[in-house]
Amino acid sequence: MPDEVRAAKENGGRGRLSQFVDLEPATESFRDAVIEGLSQRQKSVPSKFLYDAEGSRLFDEICAVEEYYPTRTELALLRARAGEIADLAGRDTVLVEYGSGASVKVRILLDALSEPAGYVAIDISGEHLRQAASAVAADYPDLEVSAVCADYTSDFELPSTANGDTRLGFFPGSTIGNFTPAAAVDFLRHAAATLGSGGALVIGADLKKDPDILKAAYNDAAGVTAEFNLNLLTRINRELGGTFDVEAFSHDAVWNSRMSRIEMHLRSRRTQAVEVDGTPFRFAEGETIHTENSYKFDIVQFRHMAGEAGFRPERTWTDREGLFSVHYLAVAA
Ligand code: TRP
Repeated sequence: MPDEVRAAKENGGRGRLSQFVDLEPATESFRDAVIEGLSQRQKSVPSKFLYDAEGSRLFDEICAVEEYYPTRTELALLRARAGEIADLAGRDTVLVEYGSGASVKVRILLDALSEPAGYVAIDISGEHLRQAASAVAADYPDLEVSAVCADYTSDFELPSTANGDTRLGFFPGSTIGNFTPAAAVDFLRHAAATLGSGGALVIGADLKKDPDILKAAYNDAAGVTAEFNLNLLTRINRELGGTFDVEAFSHDAVWNSRMSRIEMHLRSRRTQAVEVDGTPFRFAEGETIHTENSYKFDIVQFRHMAGEAGFRPERTWTDREGLFSVHYLAVAA
């Protein structure tokens, strides 16, 4: 790495966050998205708005419920393959994580990489991010840790701490499946450009399987996923002066086989009228707000998509039951 970058890095580390960049989307963008989404024939709200502080906390809880197989399956894959990933990545890499959440999975990579040059955590949930990234900084005192609160589907710049080394992107949890196929390709294209030549992306992709397993994973018996979904209405009430009666909606997860995706909806239990920031909306009994998609992939198709978006798929790992896949994608030269 260049001398001036090395000099700057010597001031980093020491167990504290070296930078917190706040690009958190403004309340207006939430307001505009909700009003636009609820004005459509099929009402919807973009899923990124599920992740306020409470939503991020509930999501961490989902990751631990028995029916939700993706988290533990991906963790096991990462543990088993961390050495191989480290060998592929080489030394002195800056790890860039898109949607870092509780920053749990990344520790497996940080432990395996030889002399990682830094960690940049990006998440839309500011407070959650600050705590999680600070905890990584405390546990890895020699690592330069930066946090960027941003919507990583928008155009944003990485902090200068990510310069001067090769970049290894990390996008776990099959979050790629929460994008439409077109948005997924856009994201990958953008990531390839950001990670740059010599860079790579470690990405988790959930696989197609028995719909009963899928439906259970998105509708756990303890009701944590329901609470996570319904929290969106509580957030709208609090931040946008919404008048939702949260009890008058129920959580619904359905498998759409034609689109190969789980859809999450909030279903109105009765005919009702609601206002958001003074704008009125009507709901028929049974009408839904579509809040999330979780696309399920086929390995060959997934690798093809990555190839279209500027990556060269180098490795794919799956568990014995073929539930989940982790891919090492090199940025195509
Ligand atoms: N990326 C996760 C997934 O698609 C997000 C997720 C898991 C999720 N469980 C959820 C989103 C429940 C909404 C509701 O699996």
